[in-house]
Amino acid sequence: MEAAEYKNLLVTIEDRVAVVQINRPQALNALDARTLDELETAFRVLREDQAVGVLIVTGTGEKAFVAGADIRELTKLDGVSGRAYSLRGLEVFDLIHSSPKPVIAAINGYCLGGGCELALACHIRIASENARFGQPEVKLGLIPGYGGTQRLPRLVGTGRAIEMLLTGDVIEAREAERIGVVNRVVPGAELLAYCRDLAKRIMANAPLATTLALNAVNAGSDLPLDRALAVEAALFGLACGTEDMKEGTKAFIDKRKPSFKGR
Ligand code: CAA
Repeated sequence: MEAAEYKNLLVTIEDRVAVVQINRPQALNALDARTLDELETAFRVLREDQAVGVLIVTGTGEKAFVAGADIRELTKLDGVSGRAYSLRGLEVFDLIHSSPKPVIAAINGYCLGGGCELALACHIRIASENARFGQPEVKLGLIPGYGGTQRLPRLVGTGRAIEMLLTGDVIEAREAERIGVVNRVVPGAELLAYCRDLAKRIMANAPLATTLALNAVNAGSDLPLDRALAVEAALFGLACGTEDMKEGTKAFIDKRKPSFKGR
């Protein structure tokens, strides 16, 4: 799928930052099957694109990041197709979560159900003051199917996650920040600029080291501590074998700025 063929996404690349904007404002950017397909294509393309260092995911308009999976599609599911539906979303979100390049969710409004799960699959979450978060699936007779029952408790702890999952309550941006759903809340008008600046600060560092740090966190998060620490040691060793590590440490000794090459 060529960029020009995206129907429900707007993708731009500027200063090595790719912005993937979900663009179905008529449905508050709800994720239908086509949008999931397009997200998969965009992430497959952008993670290989040498011109891209960091990705930002956001929604079109000021009202919604993503208001969930498309409820019109959910009405057609049965037991078998429902499982396949969930696995498909998990596959696409895992592609995002396992991206070797950092992915920032710029949450610009309603972030509900599958939208919240999309944000949870990203590596860093920044929200506008008007963002609203929730896992309201139980109100539809459902449970989250795109990772919410697993990624939310890992992020905010079981008690807080279960409260959100069982009440389906919508919480405001400041509360989401307080309990750790998002890293930071910024004024809506500054959201994208803040995320771009964050991307710039990340990209000033050695790119292989940022990828290895992401790999270490992702690989270690489900392992017992001793095995997770062994993963860290192995990836630390890989980092020590890079030209950028030689450059970064030498630049410190020489009292100059490092010049990283991504090698
Ligand atoms: N799917 C499909 N369409 C949606 C949608 C969704 N998740 N959310 C909003 N829309 C559509 C509405 O149907 C409406 O379309 P029409 O104009 O054609 O009627 C349009 O977007 C605007 O929405 P509202 O009129 O409802 O706007 P509002 O300001 O009154 O309310 C809202 C906003 C509180 C976000 C409300 O739209 C809402 O509750 N949306 C559903 C949220 C939800 O339940 N999400 C979870 C989905 S299930 C899921 O995600 C499963 C999973 O884990 C994989």
